[in-house]
Amino acid sequence: MRKLTIAIDGPAGSGKSSLARRVAQILGYLYLDSGAMYRALGLKALRAGMTSDNAPPLAELARGTHIELKSPTEEQEAAGFKNRVFLDNVEVTHEIRTEEVAKAASLIATIADVRHVLVAEQQRAGAGGGVVMEGRDIGTVVFPHAELKIFLDASAEVRAERRWKEHQEKGDVLTLPEVLEEVRARDKRDRERKVSPLVRAADAVLVDNTAMDVEETARLVVMLSREREKELAQAASRAG
Ligand code: DC
Repeated sequence: MRKLTIAIDGPAGSGKSSLARRVAQILGYLYLDSGAMYRALGLKALRAGMTSDNAPPLAELARGTHIELKSPTEEQEAAGFKNRVFLDNVEVTHEIRTEEVAKAASLIATIADVRHVLVAEQQRAGAGGGVVMEGRDIGTVVFPHAELKIFLDASAEVRAERRWKEHQEKGDVLTLPEVLEEVRARDKRDRERKVSPLVRAADAVLVDNTAMDVEETARLVVMLSREREKELAQAASRAG
């Protein structure tokens, strides 16, 4: 059976990572987190003191950066890490999961030339099919011909609560209202930016998981994948 390219897009805290990772596990596909690439570059920009949104130097920074995603060790998987992230060959899996880095990622993600560099990387990484890639523009820009597109959403309050719990588990001292405010600010930036804003692709299936857990959502997406696989196999046999 031909392996699919599955695109999962949605706002911060919608549960994309957990869902994409679980679907990839069940189907035996590769899981790729495009947001981790923006975060890694955001971390590099922060470390270099590049906190403005001055596009040319940031695009230059992106062109001179090597970002790699690898599967996690069992220990990292158990600790909730779904991808290992390497920035210029140094692991930054943990360092990129702070609100400061998320904000820097969301800011640099507004720059068209930065996106060109990272989108090309993402297209290379997923070129063989058999991948579940999550992000904001996977179904619209990175893989517009993906055979299955999911737009995952949940209420801002539920998304903020999920993020807040993650922070609590790590011992971060952030209040729920602070996280909710940051989620709303990031939503606004991601949805309103000029280049590749977060929008639902016309052919994406909208899944609202406000009241669904990861396992239920994953089962639904796996079922949709199996249907797509069957449809494609039937179309291929008719054509052949
Ligand atoms: O998925 P995430 O929260 O780790 O992503 C961090 C930021 O990166 C997010 O605020 C917007 C940006 N991003 C993007 O613009 N396009 C993607 N495909 C993935 C992430």
